[in-house]
Amino acid sequence: MPGRESSVLVVGGAGYIGSHASHVLRRNGYQVIVYDNLSRGHRFLAEGFELIVADLADLSQLTPALKRVSGIMHFAADSQVGESMRNPRKYFSNNVQNGIALLNAALDAGVRKLVFSSTCAVYGIPATIPITEKTPRQPVNPYGMSKLFFENALEAYAWAYGLRSVSLRYFNAAGADESGIIGEVHDPETHLIPCALKAVMGERDSLEIFGTDYPTPDGTCSRDYVHVSDLAEAHVLAFQHLDNKQGAAQYNLGTGSGASVQEVIATIEEVTGKTVPRRIAPRRSGDPPELVADPSRAQAELGWKAKRSLREIVQTAWQWEQKLQRRCQDAALQR
Ligand code: UFG
Repeated sequence: MPGRESSVLVVGGAGYIGSHASHVLRRNGYQVIVYDNLSRGHRFLAEGFELIVADLADLSQLTPALKRVSGIMHFAADSQVGESMRNPRKYFSNNVQNGIALLNAALDAGVRKLVFSSTCAVYGIPATIPITEKTPRQPVNPYGMSKLFFENALEAYAWAYGLRSVSLRYFNAAGADESGIIGEVHDPETHLIPCALKAVMGERDSLEIFGTDYPTPDGTCSRDYVHVSDLAEAHVLAFQHLDNKQGAAQYNLGTGSGASVQEVIATIEEVTGKTVPRRIAPRRSGDPPELVADPSRAQAELGWKAKRSLREIVQTAWQWEQKLQRRCQDAALQR
């Protein structure tokens, strides 16, 4: 039986970023227990790990799992901005209510260390770029509001109960683990890079470019794309940081430079050697023109810096999308 000290509960560990964090934790010598209700996660992304399939509200499963670990990484959340506008109830139930149930169960089980999967959506539409941690947090959709609520709860729990936490505000997570074992699987898929790659592979007719009239150099939105393996490594550094740090801290995780939709498409064409079939569509509501991180606090305090380029993001995402397509074809043949 591995020791409690080196064991981590990865809640939502069968999802995109959680599965990458599980692998990086294991590569760093941690014992990982994945806890996931598989509502959005996938069993195959947790292959090779102990997997507890249960809801956060199910204390009969959660409490014994918490008693075996020294800390938590919390990824379990709904994360689609558009859906959160149509169905806020789902976001406040899953991201806030269930999240608080997890915090309370953690306190009761004696766990005082947590790394939280937050987002740049807590900033809403920032007045200045790059975004620092001091940029006002003014979310413009229920998804961002739900994440901000949880960050605030972590601050209150730090003062009152000594819960030590780090909230990691991701910018645009993309790419896949270099091993090719895990990667991004969303249903429906809405993110730019997988949607563009699916268009290249003929899985969708074309990529829609949401708006070409933004106040940016080429008229398309600019985002800070950060490799999921870089994000996963930040989680391990944050977890280690909590060994010597009280309170609740927050860090932006991005590269510090933006790429426009057109630049991402150009990189995809370079990497795949194929054309991205595309058409211009109206703006998508709620898209800020530009979101770019100032990641210097994470570098100064966690010793973290994104190492992988946009090209590596696209290369690994391309390898993964092709694997996913073969997997779906094999499954269809077996039916
Ligand atoms: N885009 C397209 N076509 C598509 C998909 C996206 O043109 O088919 C554009 C979007 O308009 C945006 C950029 O590509 O300008 C990136 O869009 P994504 O959907 O990939 O990512 P978002 O920037 O919308 O979302 C990210 C995170 C969310 C977070 C949000 C904050 O994935 O979790 O930033 O704004 F909430």
